[in-house]
Amino acid sequence: MSVEALPAPVRTDFPTGFVWGAATAAYQIEGAAAEGGRTPSIWDTFSRIPGKVRNGDTGDIAADHYHRYREDVALMAELGLGAYRFSLAWPRIQPAGSGPANEAGLDFYDRLVDELLANGITPVATLYHWDLPQTLEDQGGWLNRDTTHRFAEYASLTARRLGDRIGTWTTLNEPWCSAFLGYGSGVHAPGRTSPAEALTAHHHLLLAHGLGVGALRAELPATAQVSLTLNLAAVRPLTGDPADLDAARRIDGLANRIFLDPVFRGSYPADVLADTAEVTDWSFVHDGDLAEISRPIDSLGINYYTPTVVAADDPEHPAPRQDGHAGELSPWPADTGVRFLPAEGSRTAMGWPVDADGLYELLTRLRDDLPGLPLLVTENGAAYDDYSDPSGAVHDPERVAYLHGHLDAVRRAAADGVPVGGYFLWSLLDNFEWAYGYGKRFGMVHVDFASQRRTPKDSARWYAEVIRTGRLPR
Ligand code: FCB
Repeated sequence: MSVEALPAPVRTDFPTGFVWGAATAAYQIEGAAAEGGRTPSIWDTFSRIPGKVRNGDTGDIAADHYHRYREDVALMAELGLGAYRFSLAWPRIQPAGSGPANEAGLDFYDRLVDELLANGITPVATLYHWDLPQTLEDQGGWLNRDTTHRFAEYASLTARRLGDRIGTWTTLNEPWCSAFLGYGSGVHAPGRTSPAEALTAHHHLLLAHGLGVGALRAELPATAQVSLTLNLAAVRPLTGDPADLDAARRIDGLANRIFLDPVFRGSYPADVLADTAEVTDWSFVHDGDLAEISRPIDSLGINYYTPTVVAADDPEHPAPRQDGHAGELSPWPADTGVRFLPAEGSRTAMGWPVDADGLYELLTRLRDDLPGLPLLVTENGAAYDDYSDPSGAVHDPERVAYLHGHLDAVRRAAADGVPVGGYFLWSLLDNFEWAYGYGKRFGMVHVDFASQRRTPKDSARWYAEVIRTGRLPR
Protein backbone atom coordinates (compact mmCIF):
# COMPACT_ATOMS: atom_id res chain seq x y z
CA MET A 1 0.00 0.00 0.00
CA SER A 2 1.40 3.37 -0.93
CA VAL A 3 1.80 6.08 1.65
CA GLU A 4 -0.85 8.17 -0.10
CA ALA A 5 -3.42 5.44 0.48
CA LEU A 6 -3.07 5.60 4.25
CA PRO A 7 -5.98 7.31 5.95
CA ALA A 8 -5.14 10.80 7.19
CA PRO A 9 -4.53 10.80 10.95
CA VAL A 10 -7.57 12.10 12.83
CA ARG A 11 -6.62 15.50 14.28
CA THR A 12 -8.72 16.83 17.09
CA ASP A 13 -8.51 20.07 19.03
CA PHE A 14 -8.85 18.35 22.39
CA PRO A 15 -6.74 15.87 24.34
CA THR A 16 -7.07 12.17 23.60
CA GLY A 17 -9.89 10.63 25.60
CA PHE A 18 -11.51 14.02 26.24
CA VAL A 19 -14.96 13.42 27.74
CA TRP A 20 -17.91 15.22 26.13
CA GLY A 21 -20.92 15.52 28.37
CA ALA A 22 -23.91 17.46 29.57
CA ALA A 23 -25.08 18.15 33.11
CA THR A 24 -28.35 18.41 35.02
CA ALA A 25 -29.48 18.30 38.66
CA ALA A 26 -32.26 16.29 40.27
CA TYR A 27 -34.52 19.03 41.61
CA GLN A 28 -34.16 21.03 38.41
CA ILE A 29 -35.44 18.32 36.06
CA GLU A 30 -36.95 15.28 37.76
CA GLY A 31 -40.37 16.42 38.98
CA ALA A 32 -42.33 13.52 40.55
CA ALA A 33 -41.75 15.34 43.81
CA ALA A 34 -44.09 13.15 45.82
CA GLU A 35 -43.61 9.86 43.97
CA GLY A 36 -41.64 6.75 44.79
CA GLY A 37 -41.41 7.61 48.48
CA ARG A 38 -39.60 10.94 47.98
CA THR A 39 -40.05 13.40 50.82
CA PRO A 40 -39.75 17.20 50.51
CA SER A 41 -36.34 18.82 50.26
CA ILE A 42 -35.45 22.32 51.38
CA TRP A 43 -36.16 23.47 47.82
CA ASP A 44 -39.73 22.09 47.93
CA THR A 45 -40.25 24.13 51.08
CA PHE A 46 -38.41 27.24 49.94
CA SER A 47 -40.08 27.44 46.55
CA ARG A 48 -43.46 27.55 48.31
CA ILE A 49 -42.58 30.67 50.28
CA PRO A 50 -44.20 33.56 48.40
CA GLY A 51 -41.64 35.79 46.70
CA LYS A 52 -38.70 33.39 46.89
CA VAL A 53 -38.97 31.94 43.38
CA ARG A 54 -40.10 33.97 40.38
CA ASN A 55 -43.62 33.31 39.28
CA GLY A 56 -44.13 30.97 42.26
CA ASP A 57 -42.51 28.15 40.27
CA THR A 58 -41.58 24.88 42.00
CA GLY A 59 -39.83 21.67 40.96
CA ASP A 60 -43.01 19.60 41.43
CA ILE A 61 -43.11 18.63 37.75
CA ALA A 62 -40.03 20.33 36.30
CA ALA A 63 -38.99 18.60 33.04
CA ASP A 64 -40.72 15.39 34.19
CA HIS A 65 -37.44 13.56 33.69
CA TYR A 66 -38.43 10.98 36.34
CA HIS A 67 -40.98 9.65 33.86
CA ARG A 68 -39.23 10.60 30.63
CA TYR A 69 -35.68 9.52 31.40
CA ARG A 70 -35.67 6.96 28.56
CA GLU A 71 -36.58 9.62 26.01
CA ASP A 72 -33.91 11.90 27.52
CA VAL A 73 -31.21 9.24 27.36
CA ALA A 74 -32.21 8.57 23.73
CA LEU A 75 -31.70 12.29 23.04
CA MET A 76 -28.26 12.16 24.68
CA ALA A 77 -27.35 9.19 22.51
CA GLU A 78 -28.59 10.97 19.40
CA LEU A 79 -26.35 13.94 20.25
CA GLY A 80 -23.39 11.63 20.77
CA LEU A 81 -22.75 12.47 24.43
CA GLY A 82 -20.02 10.37 26.00
CA ALA A 83 -21.00 11.14 29.58
CA TYR A 84 -23.92 12.48 31.58
CA ARG A 85 -23.51 14.33 34.87
CA PHE A 86 -26.65 14.19 37.00
CA SER A 87 -27.41 14.43 40.69
CA LEU A 88 -29.08 11.97 43.00
CA ALA A 89 -31.94 13.28 45.14
CA TRP A 90 -31.13 12.56 48.78
CA PRO A 91 -34.84 12.79 49.75
CA ARG A 92 -35.63 10.10 47.18
CA ILE A 93 -32.92 7.74 48.37
CA GLN A 94 -33.12 8.38 52.11
CA PRO A 95 -36.47 10.10 52.69
CA ALA A 96 -36.04 10.32 56.45
CA GLY A 97 -32.57 11.86 56.13
CA SER A 98 -31.16 8.96 58.13
CA GLY A 99 -31.65 5.23 58.45
CA PRO A 100 -32.38 2.76 55.68
CA ALA A 101 -32.51 3.46 51.98
CA ASN A 102 -35.78 3.74 50.12
CA GLU A 103 -35.48 1.00 47.54
CA ALA A 104 -37.98 2.66 45.19
CA GLY A 105 -35.79 5.77 45.14
CA LEU A 106 -32.65 3.79 44.38
CA ASP A 107 -34.57 1.84 41.74
CA PHE A 108 -35.09 5.01 39.72
CA TYR A 109 -31.35 5.70 39.55
CA ASP A 110 -30.72 2.04 38.89
CA ARG A 111 -32.94 2.22 35.81
CA LEU A 112 -31.40 5.52 34.69
CA VAL A 113 -27.84 4.20 35.02
CA ASP A 114 -28.67 1.01 33.16
CA GLU A 115 -30.29 3.02 30.38
CA LEU A 116 -27.20 5.24 30.11
CA LEU A 117 -24.85 2.29 30.01
CA ALA A 118 -26.98 0.50 27.43
CA ASN A 119 -26.53 3.60 25.25
CA GLY A 120 -22.78 3.80 25.80
CA ILE A 121 -23.01 6.91 28.00
CA THR A 122 -20.85 7.11 31.13
CA PRO A 123 -22.79 8.12 34.25
CA VAL A 124 -21.17 10.78 36.46
CA ALA A 125 -23.11 11.16 39.71
CA THR A 126 -23.27 14.05 42.14
CA LEU A 127 -24.55 13.18 45.60
CA TYR A 128 -25.65 16.64 46.66
CA HIS A 129 -26.91 19.33 44.32
CA TRP A 130 -28.69 21.39 47.02
CA ASP A 131 -31.78 19.28 47.82
CA LEU A 132 -31.28 18.56 51.53
CA PRO A 133 -34.12 16.49 53.00
CA GLN A 134 -36.42 18.90 54.84
CA THR A 135 -36.39 16.57 57.82
CA LEU A 136 -32.67 17.34 58.27
CA GLU A 137 -33.34 21.05 57.86
CA ASP A 138 -35.85 20.73 60.70
CA GLN A 139 -32.94 19.54 62.85
CA GLY A 140 -30.74 22.50 61.92
CA GLY A 141 -29.66 21.66 58.37
CA TRP A 142 -26.07 22.55 57.55
CA LEU A 143 -25.74 24.43 60.84
CA ASN A 144 -26.02 21.10 62.64
CA ARG A 145 -22.76 19.16 62.66
CA ASP A 146 -24.73 15.92 62.68
CA THR A 147 -25.85 16.59 59.08
CA THR A 148 -22.26 15.81 58.01
CA HIS A 149 -22.60 12.28 59.42
CA ARG A 150 -26.00 11.88 57.82
CA PHE A 151 -24.41 12.80 54.49
CA ALA A 152 -21.72 10.13 54.89
CA GLU A 153 -24.42 7.56 55.65
CA TYR A 154 -26.37 8.59 52.55
CA ALA A 155 -23.15 8.38 50.48
CA SER A 156 -22.50 4.84 51.73
CA LEU A 157 -25.89 3.41 51.02
CA THR A 158 -26.01 5.00 47.58
CA ALA A 159 -22.54 3.78 46.60
CA ARG A 160 -23.35 0.30 47.91
CA ARG A 161 -26.24 0.01 45.45
CA LEU A 162 -24.89 1.90 42.40
CA GLY A 163 -21.11 1.68 42.83
CA ASP A 164 -20.79 -1.30 40.53
CA ARG A 165 -21.95 0.81 37.57
CA ILE A 166 -21.09 4.43 38.37
CA GLY A 167 -17.35 5.02 38.11
CA THR A 168 -17.20 8.76 38.87
CA TRP A 169 -18.73 10.24 42.03
CA THR A 170 -18.90 13.86 43.10
CA THR A 171 -19.73 14.64 46.71
CA LEU A 172 -21.06 18.21 46.48
CA ASN A 173 -21.99 20.64 43.77
CA GLU A 174 -20.95 24.23 44.47
CA PRO A 175 -20.88 24.36 48.26
CA TRP A 176 -20.26 28.14 47.87
CA CYS A 177 -23.88 28.48 46.71
CA SER A 178 -25.28 26.13 49.38
CA ALA A 179 -23.52 28.11 52.11
CA PHE A 180 -23.39 31.69 50.89
CA LEU A 181 -26.61 31.95 48.88
CA GLY A 182 -28.48 29.62 51.26
CA TYR A 183 -27.29 31.15 54.55
CA GLY A 184 -25.76 34.53 53.59
CA SER A 185 -27.96 36.39 51.11
CA GLY A 186 -30.85 33.96 51.59
CA VAL A 187 -31.78 33.81 47.90
CA HIS A 188 -31.44 30.02 47.94
CA ALA A 189 -32.92 27.45 50.30
CA PRO A 190 -33.09 27.43 53.26
CA GLY A 191 -33.15 31.23 52.95
CA ARG A 192 -31.22 32.27 56.03
CA THR A 193 -29.34 35.56 56.18
CA SER A 194 -26.45 35.46 58.62
CA PRO A 195 -22.78 35.78 57.64
CA ALA A 196 -21.76 33.73 60.69
CA GLU A 197 -24.18 30.98 59.73
CA ALA A 198 -22.92 31.08 56.14
CA LEU A 199 -19.41 30.27 57.40
CA THR A 200 -20.69 27.57 59.76
CA ALA A 201 -22.61 25.96 56.91
CA HIS A 202 -19.53 26.30 54.68
CA HIS A 203 -17.37 24.36 57.14
CA HIS A 204 -19.99 21.68 57.71
CA LEU A 205 -20.43 21.23 53.96
CA LEU A 206 -16.68 20.72 53.57
CA LEU A 207 -16.67 18.30 56.48
CA ALA A 208 -19.55 16.41 54.83
CA HIS A 209 -17.46 16.29 51.66
CA GLY A 210 -14.50 14.79 53.55
CA LEU A 211 -16.61 12.26 55.44
CA GLY A 212 -18.39 11.49 52.17
CA VAL A 213 -15.07 10.81 50.42
CA GLY A 214 -14.22 8.35 53.19
CA ALA A 215 -17.62 6.67 52.97
CA LEU A 216 -17.44 6.40 49.18
CA ARG A 217 -13.94 4.94 49.22
CA ALA A 218 -15.06 2.31 51.71
CA GLU A 219 -17.84 1.14 49.39
CA LEU A 220 -16.44 1.66 45.90
CA PRO A 221 -13.93 -0.35 43.93
CA ALA A 222 -10.39 1.02 43.98
CA THR A 223 -10.79 2.22 40.38
CA ALA A 224 -13.61 4.63 41.28
CA GLN A 225 -12.97 8.34 40.81
CA VAL A 226 -14.08 10.60 43.65
CA SER A 227 -14.40 14.32 43.05
CA LEU A 228 -15.79 17.65 44.23
CA THR A 229 -17.33 20.38 42.08
CA LEU A 230 -16.66 24.02 42.94
CA ASN A 231 -17.84 27.24 41.33
CA LEU A 232 -14.45 28.88 41.69
CA ALA A 233 -14.22 32.50 40.60
CA ALA A 234 -11.92 34.06 38.04
CA VAL A 235 -11.30 37.13 40.20
CA ARG A 236 -9.92 40.24 38.53
CA PRO A 237 -8.94 43.53 40.16
CA LEU A 238 -10.31 46.54 38.26
CA THR A 239 -6.90 48.22 38.29
CA GLY A 240 -3.40 47.55 39.60
CA ASP A 241 -3.99 49.98 42.46
CA PRO A 242 -3.01 48.35 45.80
CA ALA A 243 -6.50 48.89 47.21
CA ASP A 244 -8.07 47.09 44.22
CA LEU A 245 -5.50 44.32 44.51
CA ASP A 246 -6.43 43.89 48.15
CA ALA A 247 -10.14 43.66 47.24
CA ALA A 248 -9.21 40.92 44.76
CA ARG A 249 -7.18 39.10 47.40
CA ARG A 250 -10.12 39.21 49.81
CA ILE A 251 -12.63 37.87 47.28
CA ASP A 252 -10.18 35.28 45.96
CA GLY A 253 -10.03 34.12 49.58
CA LEU A 254 -13.80 33.92 50.01
CA ALA A 255 -14.47 32.38 46.61
CA ASN A 256 -11.50 30.12 46.00
CA ARG A 257 -8.94 29.62 48.73
CA ILE A 258 -11.62 29.06 51.41
CA PHE A 259 -12.24 25.77 49.51
CA LEU A 260 -8.93 24.93 47.88
CA ASP A 261 -6.76 25.33 50.97
CA PRO A 262 -8.76 23.09 53.32
CA VAL A 263 -9.43 20.47 50.61
CA PHE A 264 -5.93 20.32 49.13
CA ARG A 265 -3.69 21.64 51.92
CA GLY A 266 -5.59 20.78 55.09
CA SER A 267 -5.82 24.34 56.43
CA TYR A 268 -7.91 27.49 56.14
CA PRO A 269 -6.04 30.49 54.73
CA ALA A 270 -4.77 32.85 57.44
CA ASP A 271 -5.95 35.96 55.59
CA VAL A 272 -9.50 34.57 55.25
CA LEU A 273 -9.59 33.80 58.98
CA ALA A 274 -8.43 37.37 59.65
CA ASP A 275 -10.88 38.93 57.17
CA THR A 276 -13.81 37.03 58.69
CA ALA A 277 -12.81 37.53 62.35
CA GLU A 278 -15.40 40.31 62.57
CA VAL A 279 -18.06 37.68 61.74
CA THR A 280 -17.04 34.47 63.52
CA ASP A 281 -14.32 32.94 65.67
CA TRP A 282 -14.46 29.69 63.61
CA SER A 283 -14.99 27.65 66.79
CA PHE A 284 -17.10 25.25 64.73
CA VAL A 285 -13.83 23.82 63.36
CA HIS A 286 -12.96 20.86 65.58
CA ASP A 287 -9.70 18.95 65.94
CA GLY A 288 -9.41 16.44 63.13
CA ASP A 289 -11.87 18.17 60.78
CA LEU A 290 -9.22 19.42 58.39
CA ALA A 291 -7.68 15.95 58.11
CA GLU A 292 -11.10 14.64 57.05
CA ILE A 293 -11.69 17.52 54.63
CA SER A 294 -8.31 17.03 52.95
CA ARG A 295 -8.71 13.33 52.16
CA PRO A 296 -7.21 12.93 48.68
CA ILE A 297 -9.58 13.17 45.73
CA ASP A 298 -9.02 12.12 42.14
CA SER A 299 -10.11 15.23 40.27
CA LEU A 300 -11.70 18.62 40.71
CA GLY A 301 -14.83 19.77 38.88
CA ILE A 302 -15.01 23.42 37.86
CA ASN A 303 -18.24 25.25 37.08
CA TYR A 304 -17.69 28.51 35.25
CA TYR A 305 -20.09 31.08 33.82
CA THR A 306 -18.64 34.61 34.10
CA PRO A 307 -15.69 36.37 35.76
CA THR A 308 -15.74 38.37 38.99
CA VAL A 309 -14.39 41.93 38.77
CA VAL A 310 -13.70 43.75 42.01
CA ALA A 311 -12.36 47.09 43.19
CA ALA A 312 -11.95 48.89 46.47
CA ASP A 313 -15.19 50.43 47.63
CA ASP A 314 -15.65 54.06 46.75
CA PRO A 315 -17.80 55.58 49.52
CA GLU A 316 -18.23 58.77 47.47
CA HIS A 317 -19.86 56.83 44.63
CA PRO A 318 -21.81 53.94 46.10
CA ALA A 319 -22.82 51.45 43.41
CA PRO A 320 -25.03 48.38 43.52
CA ARG A 321 -23.23 45.06 43.98
CA GLN A 322 -22.91 43.51 40.51
CA ASP A 323 -21.52 40.05 41.25
CA GLY A 324 -24.18 38.20 39.26
CA HIS A 325 -26.06 37.10 42.37
CA ALA A 326 -29.54 38.45 42.99
CA GLY A 327 -30.79 39.66 46.35
CA GLU A 328 -30.48 42.75 48.47
CA LEU A 329 -28.00 41.27 50.92
CA SER A 330 -24.50 40.27 49.94
CA PRO A 331 -23.80 36.53 49.92
CA TRP A 332 -20.14 37.23 50.81
CA PRO A 333 -19.67 36.90 54.58
CA ALA A 334 -17.02 39.62 54.95
CA ASP A 335 -16.82 41.69 51.79
CA THR A 336 -16.20 44.92 53.65
CA GLY A 337 -14.60 47.51 51.41
CA VAL A 338 -15.20 45.60 48.18
CA ARG A 339 -17.09 46.81 45.13
CA PHE A 340 -18.29 44.24 42.55
CA LEU A 341 -18.44 45.39 38.94
CA PRO A 342 -19.55 43.62 35.80
CA ALA A 343 -16.96 42.50 33.27
CA GLU A 344 -17.25 44.07 29.83
CA GLY A 345 -18.96 42.36 26.96
CA SER A 346 -22.39 41.18 25.97
CA ARG A 347 -24.69 39.72 28.63
CA THR A 348 -26.68 36.51 28.81
CA ALA A 349 -30.32 36.46 29.91
CA MET A 350 -29.01 36.14 33.49
CA GLY A 351 -27.24 39.47 32.99
CA TRP A 352 -23.90 37.64 33.24
CA PRO A 353 -21.16 39.11 31.03
CA VAL A 354 -19.82 36.69 28.41
CA ASP A 355 -16.06 36.38 28.96
CA ALA A 356 -14.42 33.12 27.96
CA ASP A 357 -10.95 34.32 28.99
CA GLY A 358 -12.09 33.94 32.61
CA LEU A 359 -12.35 30.19 32.08
CA TYR A 360 -8.84 30.08 30.61
CA GLU A 361 -7.52 32.15 33.55
CA LEU A 362 -9.15 29.84 36.06
CA LEU A 363 -7.91 26.64 34.44
CA THR A 364 -4.31 27.85 34.08
CA ARG A 365 -4.32 29.17 37.65
CA LEU A 366 -5.36 25.72 38.91
CA ARG A 367 -2.64 24.10 36.76
CA ASP A 368 -0.12 26.33 38.54
CA ASP A 369 -1.54 26.11 42.07
CA LEU A 370 -2.39 22.40 42.10
CA PRO A 371 0.10 20.81 39.70
CA GLY A 372 -1.00 17.50 38.26
CA LEU A 373 -4.56 17.59 39.62
CA PRO A 374 -6.94 16.35 36.90
CA LEU A 375 -9.66 18.90 36.15
CA LEU A 376 -13.07 18.61 34.56
CA VAL A 377 -15.30 21.48 33.48
CA THR A 378 -18.46 20.13 35.11
CA GLU A 379 -20.69 23.07 34.13
CA ASN A 380 -20.55 25.82 31.56
CA GLY A 381 -23.30 27.33 29.46
CA ALA A 382 -25.67 30.24 29.11
CA ALA A 383 -29.31 31.24 29.41
CA TYR A 384 -30.98 33.07 26.54
CA ASP A 385 -34.59 33.90 25.79
CA ASP A 386 -35.11 30.98 23.44
CA TYR A 387 -38.38 30.27 21.74
CA SER A 388 -39.52 27.86 19.11
CA ASP A 389 -40.38 29.51 15.81
CA PRO A 390 -43.46 28.69 13.71
CA SER A 391 -41.62 25.80 12.06
CA GLY A 392 -40.83 24.37 15.50
CA ALA A 393 -37.09 25.16 15.31
CA VAL A 394 -35.21 26.87 18.14
CA HIS A 395 -32.43 29.11 16.86
CA ASP A 396 -29.95 30.11 19.56
CA PRO A 397 -26.95 31.67 17.83
CA GLU A 398 -25.87 33.46 21.03
CA ARG A 399 -25.53 30.14 22.86
CA VAL A 400 -23.53 28.68 19.96
CA ALA A 401 -21.19 31.69 20.15
CA TYR A 402 -20.93 31.34 23.94
CA LEU A 403 -20.09 27.64 23.73
CA HIS A 404 -17.65 28.19 20.88
CA GLY A 405 -15.73 30.81 22.85
CA HIS A 406 -15.65 28.78 26.06
CA LEU A 407 -14.71 25.52 24.37
CA ASP A 408 -11.92 27.41 22.65
CA ALA A 409 -10.76 28.56 26.10
CA VAL A 410 -10.71 24.90 27.21
CA ARG A 411 -8.80 23.96 24.06
CA ARG A 412 -6.23 26.70 24.67
CA ALA A 413 -5.86 25.70 28.31
CA ALA A 414 -5.30 22.05 27.36
CA ALA A 415 -2.73 23.12 24.75
CA ASP A 416 -0.99 25.09 27.52
CA GLY A 417 -0.63 22.06 29.73
CA VAL A 418 -3.81 22.16 31.85
CA PRO A 419 -4.86 18.58 32.63
CA VAL A 420 -8.50 19.15 31.70
CA GLY A 421 -10.16 15.88 30.81
CA GLY A 422 -13.72 16.76 29.92
CA TYR A 423 -16.48 19.30 29.46
CA PHE A 424 -20.10 19.07 30.63
CA LEU A 425 -22.44 21.56 29.03
CA TRP A 426 -24.98 23.13 31.39
CA SER A 427 -27.53 22.04 30.63
CA LEU A 428 -29.00 19.15 28.72
CA LEU A 429 -32.55 20.46 29.14
CA ASP A 430 -34.26 23.72 29.99
CA ASN A 431 -35.09 23.38 33.67
CA PHE A 432 -36.01 24.91 37.02
CA GLU A 433 -33.36 27.60 37.44
CA TRP A 434 -33.64 27.92 41.24
CA ALA A 435 -34.84 31.38 42.34
CA TYR A 436 -35.44 32.31 38.66
CA GLY A 437 -37.87 29.44 38.14
CA TYR A 438 -38.57 28.34 34.57
CA GLY A 439 -37.94 31.82 33.18
CA LYS A 440 -34.25 31.20 32.46
CA ARG A 441 -33.50 28.62 29.79
CA PHE A 442 -30.03 27.05 29.94
CA GLY A 443 -30.81 23.90 27.92
CA MET A 444 -29.35 22.87 24.59
CA VAL A 445 -32.67 21.07 24.33
CA HIS A 446 -35.75 23.27 24.54
CA VAL A 447 -38.53 22.07 26.82
CA ASP A 448 -42.11 23.22 26.32
CA PHE A 449 -43.16 22.82 29.94
CA ALA A 450 -46.88 22.65 29.07
CA SER A 451 -46.51 19.63 26.76
CA GLN A 452 -43.04 18.46 27.97
CA ARG A 453 -42.05 18.33 24.34
CA ARG A 454 -38.27 18.34 23.82
CA THR A 455 -36.71 20.12 20.83
CA PRO A 456 -32.95 20.19 20.32
CA LYS A 457 -31.90 23.79 19.75
CA ASP A 458 -29.38 24.72 17.04
CA SER A 459 -26.72 24.67 19.79
CA ALA A 460 -27.40 20.97 20.43
CA ARG A 461 -26.79 20.18 16.76
CA TRP A 462 -23.66 22.34 16.86
CA TYR A 463 -22.38 20.60 20.00
CA ALA A 464 -23.11 17.17 18.49
CA GLU A 465 -20.91 18.10 15.53
CA VAL A 466 -18.09 19.25 17.81
CA ILE A 467 -18.34 15.94 19.66
CA ARG A 468 -18.37 13.96 16.42
CA THR A 469 -15.32 15.69 14.94
CA GLY A 470 -13.45 16.61 18.11
CA ARG A 471 -12.90 20.02 16.53
CA LEU A 472 -14.28 23.52 16.78
CA PRO A 473 -15.54 25.03 13.54
CA ARG A 474 -13.01 27.52 12.17
C1 FCB B 1 -24.92 26.65 38.82
C2 FCB B 1 -25.72 25.49 39.36
C3 FCB B 1 -26.68 24.88 38.37
C4 FCB B 1 -27.34 25.94 37.51
C5 FCB B 1 -26.31 26.85 36.91
C6 FCB B 1 -26.88 27.90 35.98
O1 FCB B 1 -24.56 27.48 39.86
O2 FCB B 1 -24.86 24.47 39.82
O3 FCB B 1 -27.61 24.11 39.09
O4 FCB B 1 -28.28 26.61 38.24
O5 FCB B 1 -25.58 27.48 37.92
